[in-house]
Amino acid sequence: MILVTGGAGFIGSNFVLDWVAQSDEAVLNVDKLSYAGNLRNLSALQGDERHVFVREDICDQDAIAALLNKYKPRAIVHFAAESHVDRSIRGPRDFINTNINGTFSLLEAARGYWSELPGQEQRDFRFLHVSTDEVYGSLSAGDASFTETTAYAPNSPYSASKAASDHLVRSYHHTYGLPTLTTNCSNNYGPYHFPEKLIPLIITNARAGKSLPIYGDGQQVRDWLYVGDHCAAIRCVLDKGMPGEVYNIGGWNEKANLDVVHILCDMLDRMDPKKSGSYRDQITFVTDRPGHDRRYAIDASKIERELGWRPVETFETGIERTVQWYLAHQDWVADVQSGDYLKWIETNYNQRMAEKESA
Ligand code: NAD
Ligand code: DAU
Repeated sequence: MILVTGGAGFIGSNFVLDWVAQSDEAVLNVDKLSYAGNLRNLSALQGDERHVFVREDICDQDAIAALLNKYKPRAIVHFAAESHVDRSIRGPRDFINTNINGTFSLLEAARGYWSELPGQEQRDFRFLHVSTDEVYGSLSAGDASFTETTAYAPNSPYSASKAASDHLVRSYHHTYGLPTLTTNCSNNYGPYHFPEKLIPLIITNARAGKSLPIYGDGQQVRDWLYVGDHCAAIRCVLDKGMPGEVYNIGGWNEKANLDVVHILCDMLDRMDPKKSGSYRDQITFVTDRPGHDRRYAIDASKIERELGWRPVETFETGIERTVQWYLAHQDWVADVQSGDYLKWIETNYNQRMAEKESA
């Protein structure tokens, strides 16, 4: 069994679904179900014994330690985080709590569990920490892409909290010998992406006839990776990565935000045309994000060279799959936008758990 944190979020739920589709090994999914956790992403796994869901906060070290001792996973894949930059600007506290203190508590629980494992199991154990390219700061046009040795220069409360967590993970390998792996990935997109992030926000706003907000001049560059390729990269690092190492993951897909929005509008004009005009008519330039990083770009040659991982999707194929997914899952979008998915958790999940406990 492996333990996944944050497995009800965007990347985590894609990872859990892929894992169960590709392996008989069970997943213990530990997620506190913040606004970003949506159990409905995993409804296909209802009744599947390979997926065990536990609602828990990674900040609760004792609870996590008890889960480790009960389920005895061979690895932890740590996705749980506060992940949205704009929210971190409006209110950084949750980011410090979960991303720094939560990762620290998880590391402490993992260290206690790992140190008691017998010889071979201890050597085989892995703690894979999922992080971001934002820890490296901002590039100018013409600068070389981020490599694993680029100096850290986080600029937002979100990226600073992720940078702190990366350093903690590094220190647990260096000091205690915990077999850690760290991955720093570029911007993901794909199914189950919460519609506060650029790509799903544009798709859902466009279809709802709302404005499509572009921060500043829209010339900021992000390096896009289809979420399924990210999940495959994580499985590859878990399988073949060297303890103590860092692997950058990216799709070699640098695009300016305005170009991404134009591509989405043109795709929607083709796949779901408006009665009149183009979705481009809804584009609105708005005040820039404070401290907005200008450009991210990942050099993914280390993971390609050493572990043999390569992305399957190009931006063109990945974005088409993504738009098709959103058009085919309007019920999922409505559920998220209305907040019904949170009500569903409170009634169905909590009730099921109460029944289990009293049984
Ligand atoms: P997300 O916000 O969609 O999901 C985060 C999940 O973590 C949610 O299910 C939430 O309920 C859970 N969670 C939050 N706080 C928790 C806590 N204290 N205890 C337990 N669970 C908690 O995030 P995402 O976009 O899926 O990102 C997953 C990870 O990947 C994060 O660590 C993020 O920093 C990293 N990352 C994301 C991207 C991206 O483009 N989305 C790119 C690179 C790296
Ligand atoms: O680079 C990896 C990071 O990518 C992850 O670590 C983060 O968890 C993830 O949220 C993402 O961060 P970004 O800030 O790059 O993603 P976001 O979708 O919020 O914004 C992408 C770009 O689009 C960014 O330059 C800001 C811009 N933007 C965003 C929104 C929501 C707009 O112009 N308008 C918007 O409404």
